[in-house]
Amino acid sequence: MLNLTRRALAAGTALMLLSGAALAQAPIVIKFSHVVAPDTPKGRGADKFKELAEKYTNGKVKVEVYPNSQLFKDKEEVEALQLGAVQMLAPSLAKFGPLGAKEFEVFDLPYILPDKAALRRVTDGALGKRLFDKLETKGITGLAYWDNGFKVMSANKPLRMPADFRGLKMRIQSSKVLEAQFRALGAIPQVMAFSEVYQGMQTGVVDGSENTPSNMFTQKHHEVQKYITLSDHGYIGYAVITNKKFWDGLPAEIRTELGKAMKEATVYANQVADKDNADALDEMRKSGKTTFITLTPEEKAAWKTALEPVTADMAKRVGKDVIEEFQKEAKGGTQ
Ligand code: LMR
Repeated sequence: MLNLTRRALAAGTALMLLSGAALAQAPIVIKFSHVVAPDTPKGRGADKFKELAEKYTNGKVKVEVYPNSQLFKDKEEVEALQLGAVQMLAPSLAKFGPLGAKEFEVFDLPYILPDKAALRRVTDGALGKRLFDKLETKGITGLAYWDNGFKVMSANKPLRMPADFRGLKMRIQSSKVLEAQFRALGAIPQVMAFSEVYQGMQTGVVDGSENTPSNMFTQKHHEVQKYITLSDHGYIGYAVITNKKFWDGLPAEIRTELGKAMKEATVYANQVADKDNADALDEMRKSGKTTFITLTPEEKAAWKTALEPVTADMAKRVGKDVIEEFQKEAKGGTQ
């Protein structure tokens, strides 16, 4: 009896030692959830981060990437991150407004960014950092800004002049700025999760939408929209974020390696973004399923005039100082 107890105790100790060793080796898992296809700028960025993070930590970190809203849709994903159900996301900048970080909506103001160089000056500058600081109180740490690109506009009728928008139901991300933008054009904005847009277009719940070419192409929007206007009226980009408690709780050396992986993945994601969008335009053109509209200088000017009041109207919400700082940094600090 005593022998048996001794043997059982020894076996138990061995088991405990074994599971202890296994535990010591169990990788830290980062669930990286996103709503777009893998072959988009964000999708590629997430996959690159996975590759580098696992390499630089010698497998001590395992990154699981979940694309295409597999785990969570738009709004739900930020809540999931705050609750710790996922550890990393890259929501579009528009999606931080509903979270209470309204200053992020500055990126959505029509025509606020002349080009990507101006964008980089903002994201790499003082404002980019200050916006990330705002997230800390919400249990979120900002790690990087990733590009997508400039937006185009789709519908089943040609959109050449602001009057063409009148009465159209246009899908938007949940953003007060985007709502104001479509109201200024005389359209009816409809908030809808990204994963539901294709069906919304197919069934006529919405008449059109705005997005980047890479997002439209990978979601097949061009198959259910007869026209795409090359308007470049606004920008879509992302903030890569992590759960603050998770991030702060990581061993310092792991955090350093992950930071390095994120830095390199950011360079990569931003490098492929332009090409992804150009390729998507080509593919949609080749498909023959949709007709592209290039605006004349007069038409472009009419869009700008119609959308000009949006910035002033939204100043109260986004912050006049934020808008001015943005414009100053976008111009390269001189004004
Ligand atoms: C959207 O239209 O919801 C997109 O911005 C999704 C995304 O993350 O690019």
